[in-house]
Amino acid sequence: MILVTGGCGYIGSHTCLALLRAGEEVAALDNYSNSKPEALVRVQKLANRPFPFEEADLRDETALRRVFEQHQIHAVIHFAGLKAVGESVQKPLEYYDNNVAGTVTLCRVMRDFGCKRMVFSSSATVYGSGNPSPLTEDMPTGQVTNPYGRTKYMLEEILKDICAADPEFSAVLLRYFNPVGADESGQIGEDPRDIPNNLMPYISQVAVGRLSRLAVFGNDYDTPDGTGIRDYIHVSDLASGHVKAVEYANRQTGARIINLGTGRGTSVLELVAAFERANGVKVPYAISPRRPGDVDVCYANADKARRILGWTAQMSVDDMCRDSWHWQSQNPEGYR
Ligand code: NAD
Ligand code: UFG
Repeated sequence: MILVTGGCGYIGSHTCLALLRAGEEVAALDNYSNSKPEALVRVQKLANRPFPFEEADLRDETALRRVFEQHQIHAVIHFAGLKAVGESVQKPLEYYDNNVAGTVTLCRVMRDFGCKRMVFSSSATVYGSGNPSPLTEDMPTGQVTNPYGRTKYMLEEILKDICAADPEFSAVLLRYFNPVGADESGQIGEDPRDIPNNLMPYISQVAVGRLSRLAVFGNDYDTPDGTGIRDYIHVSDLASGHVKAVEYANRQTGARIINLGTGRGTSVLELVAAFERANGVKVPYAISPRRPGDVDVCYANADKARRILGWTAQMSVDDMCRDSWHWQSQNPEGYR
């Protein structure tokens, strides 16, 4: 059985669905700090398969041990963690405790139960601002500018150390680029608690009328239209990448770092135009000052995922816009 930590969150819920559809046995845990159990209720309906999920905090070792006692877990896909860059600057201790200490606790319990396979959610943020795109996995990391990014960098190093100490341990460290979109059913999707920090949920909430207009953070970057370029990837593609990654973790040992991106960059204004075109809606926007800490261009070299996992992203930017809108327009208040 595969344990999915943070399984109720945005990427976790889509990955649970993909695993169930691939016929895998799945258990999920989440402390619901940034999600609602309703997401997994809907996953069960979409997959037409019940599966166990429970409320547990990563940092609660007793609760984790109970989960490992109840289920025969051979691999963990580890999503659970806090992810807001700005909040991490205000609350570094919470981020180091949740993300770093929580993962250390999880790894200790895995060791005690002889579970030696992990797929870990890292982020393109570990590349920092010093590397040119397309970003390849062998580029130097560690020059990150915020505590959230540092937790990802530290956890990559910790997992490499665990692999070095135990030759049977397998860790696949997936560096995600910018996950967007939703399952094509429109039943599950991204449900930010407050005003969204990220571009696509912000655009969706403007389009649905919850927010009045988008602030485009800077149009004086060194890019063709002056706005920031990112590698947006459909969350269902990302989820299928995890199905491949956990299969891969079963047949190899050691630490492997793999980008999950499309290899294509899209600017803020291109994404706004694609959203309007794909959905026939208007997204009013105004140019605002740059957001501190943003880089001009960030996109993946996606060759290693294709070579090692046999995975490439299939969905276009228009698909991402259509499915984000489908979810948002059917669920204007998210899971509430
Ligand atoms: P999310 O917040 O939707 O999901 C994370 C889940 O983990 C939530 O359901 C939350 O309740 C749970 N959680 C948090 N702390 C926990 C704890 N201590 N114990 C148990 N559960 C806990 O976020 P997401 O977008 O699905 O991201 C999943 C992972 O991918 C995170 O580790 C994130 O840092 C990483 N990531 C996300 C992005 C992105 O843009 N969404 C990009 C790169 C990496
Ligand atoms: N942007 C706007 N207006 C907004 C929000 C974003 O113009 O309201 C712009 C940003 O300046 C950037 C682009 O849209 O150019 C994408 O911004 P996001 O906040 O959606 O994504 P980021 O690339 O800044 O951050 C994401 C994740 C981080 C992760 C980082 C690096 O949210 O967790 O990718 O991989 F660390």
